Amino acid sequence: MSSLILNNDRKQIIQEIAQTYGTPVYVYFADEINERIEKVKSIFEGINILPTFACKSNNNPHIVEHFSRNGFGTDIVSIGEYYVSKKAGVDDQKIVWNGNGKSRHEIEVLSNCVGYVNIDSVEEYERWKEYETDATFFLRVNPDVDPMTHHHISTGLKKNKFGIPVEEIDKILNDKNGPKISGFHVHIGSQIVDVEPFDEALSSVANLSRRYGFSKINIGGGWGIKYEDKELNLEEYKRKIIPHLEGFELVLFELGRYLIAPAGLLVATVQYVKRTSHKTFVVVDAGMNTLIRPAMYDAYHNMIVLTPTEGIAKADVVGPLCESGDLLARDREIQIPKVGSHVVFENVGAYGYSMSSNYNSYPRPAEVLVSENGSKITLIRRRETIDDLFRTIV
Ligand SMILES: Cc1ncc(COP(=O)(O)O)c(C=O)c1O
Repeated sequence: MSSLILNNDRKQIIQEIAQTYGTPVYVYFADEINERIEKVKSIFEGINILPTFACKSNNNPHIVEHFSRNGFGTDIVSIGEYYVSKKAGVDDQKIVWNGNGKSRHEIEVLSNCVGYVNIDSVEEYERWKEYETDATFFLRVNPDVDPMTHHHISTGLKKNKFGIPVEEIDKILNDKNGPKISGFHVHIGSQIVDVEPFDEALSSVANLSRRYGFSKINIGGGWGIKYEDKELNLEEYKRKIIPHLEGFELVLFELGRYLIAPAGLLVATVQYVKRTSHKTFVVVDAGMNTLIRPAMYDAYHNMIVLTPTEGIAKADVVGPLCESGDLLARDREIQIPKVGSHVVFENVGAYGYSMSSNYNSYPRPAEVLVSENGSKITLIRRRETIDDLFRTIV
């Protein structure tokens, strides 16, 4: 499945949104979200699932509500993400709490609110002995599998900080003084485009579950989308991975990127086309504060020029921040846009706004949701103001 198709109707909608709400602005298309929800459900046909949306990927309560209305719970990491889930109407019993650094304060606040907790270490298990809760506990296993993705988003290798090595699991399962453990959780990384790492990790954790008599399993997220060339082949995933899950009473998963990345676009305005004797720079009003993935992971986001000039050149598309790393596209062969016109970055619905910042004291952008068939355009987060920058100053 390729990413969102930017047809003329959608281009028209984007221009309207940019005029009404200004730029930079994140725009999400409900049609695309719905398609992805259906696709995911079809992969798990015949299996009893508790689907959750990883709201670290997109923390707008309106977006999370869209998933909630379609039967999804949430995967949360923090108290903040718990409240995002509550604003979105997610039932406590459908909330899964992940994270390797759960503080005593967080445990006090959340232990009686969430349905599921994934324990990340033997040390965390020991801490939970001090608390009473009805939550269902899973152990996050580190299966030592290379997901073959960017090293910043690999989580299932022994050298990564996440999960409990298989050889340490017995320390917990032989101990009868802590919370009852009901299953294993595994999440080996994000933007995984090969089925093999899933196959390796899930066959091993499913077998481990059977060995310990667990009937529930949480298989995490990580499905890779098509940013530039390759995406996860879901038919192959269905063929090879789903059989590992047969016989489980309940399968939880925590998908973020696959569900929302392709549904989101970032619209920016071209400020300058700067030509030096060395290079061409297209300077836009969005930067690494708006979308950090290119600067942080060298990530590729396709850029569409809505109003091109005649010229084609290799250019860096950069933001206005005081950082040489402030770029959205590097050495990209593009049609040079007209100054003052709009450009659109694709596949930014996940880890876009949720990783944005106020660096250089720029207010964060607005977010807009386009309903099915483009019939309604709703502002779902207003642009921050200068006053917002000082809200926390005492
Ligand atoms: C524990 C856990 N579950 C789920 C996810 C969601 O991953 P993705 O957005 O790649 O589906 C993440 C993010 O890396 C995660 O850390």
